Amino acid sequence: MENLIVKSPGRINLIGEHTDYNDGFVLPTAIDKAITLSFAKNDSEYNFEVFSKDLGKSFQTDLRKLEPQDSGWENYILGVIDGLQQRSDKLSGFNCSLKSDIPIGSGVSSSAALECGIAVGLNEFFNLGLDPISLVKIGQKAEHNYVGAKCGIMDQFASVMSRVGHVILLDCRSLDYTYVPLELGEYCFLLVNSHVHHSLASTEYNVRRQQCAEAVAIIRKSYPEVGSLRDVTTTMLEEYKNVLTDTLYRRSKFVVEENLRVLDAVTALNSVDLPNLGALLYQSHTGLRDEYEVSCPEIDYLVDFTRDNPEVLGSRIMGGGFGGCSLNVIHKKAVSNLISRLAPAYKQEFGKTLSWFVAKPSGGTSFSWT
Ligand code: GLA
Repeated sequence: MENLIVKSPGRINLIGEHTDYNDGFVLPTAIDKAITLSFAKNDSEYNFEVFSKDLGKSFQTDLRKLEPQDSGWENYILGVIDGLQQRSDKLSGFNCSLKSDIPIGSGVSSSAALECGIAVGLNEFFNLGLDPISLVKIGQKAEHNYVGAKCGIMDQFASVMSRVGHVILLDCRSLDYTYVPLELGEYCFLLVNSHVHHSLASTEYNVRRQQCAEAVAIIRKSYPEVGSLRDVTTTMLEEYKNVLTDTLYRRSKFVVEENLRVLDAVTALNSVDLPNLGALLYQSHTGLRDEYEVSCPEIDYLVDFTRDNPEVLGSRIMGGGFGGCSLNVIHKKAVSNLISRLAPAYKQEFGKTLSWFVAKPSGGTSFSWT
């Protein structure tokens, strides 16, 4: 029997953070770091086994007995298989092995890559016939129902749907999308890993979602057409400044402005105006730090370190927040000089060792038979 090899990438998000679950816009792309999954049939009708080469661990389960575990990487997989089985009865016994070079807990969506790798892989392996967007949604649901993180759709969408050399402008309400070409010239995307590990399942992410919903419920009292923060204008928001609590006002202000920044970033990319793009990244960071309050001192330090450096056009915390990586738009030739100054300074300040990599905008999940 043939084996199926699937490559499922992590992602970066150029701008548009915490906008996806507010029905807003995002601008992500997959990167050249991925989980490689290999699928083979076994003799069983219902048993499957998944082996992680990185962890040196495996688990086995019966397809008829899926349920969330207390915690752990198994949940991403179990949740996806459960979602697939709700749409199809064609799964049977299989073995899968995984190997990843996506840094875990760094805000580059190793979890979405795992979910989508399993979803795309099993869809292909068992010829389930599900379309890519359905697989994206199954990945997102697995995270909601098995992992407990009420994430938006950006990460799974980027992992599956990306196109080499482009970012995706995704409208998270309609799921309409367009590919925006990235003409970076002498510049690149440098990810600097703070090694502060976030956990998306940690309560703060879900708290932010809840706060956004509370703000919408209040604004809807006089604007019934508002279904989410996507529909709130800056004028409406100012009207509500003294009605909303200070926290809810700041959360909403960030989301409303971040949505506008995504559209401005697309204009900047289309006119190859990288300095303007970079300025938007810095603005996004300030909002994430002061209004949405999802940054941390370590990442603020990494971003601040770049501010007076003319070779760095923009820098911000990326992903769910509370740690992970900063995303920097930097001149290719300036990377080693920045790191040689930043790494010792960071070590001195926080006692932590930095790591970094240049992320190449890449295509979405791919597969081949061997
Ligand atoms: C995580 C979630 C995404 C998105 C980002 C923040 O990566 O999985 O859905 O909300 O945080 O933009």
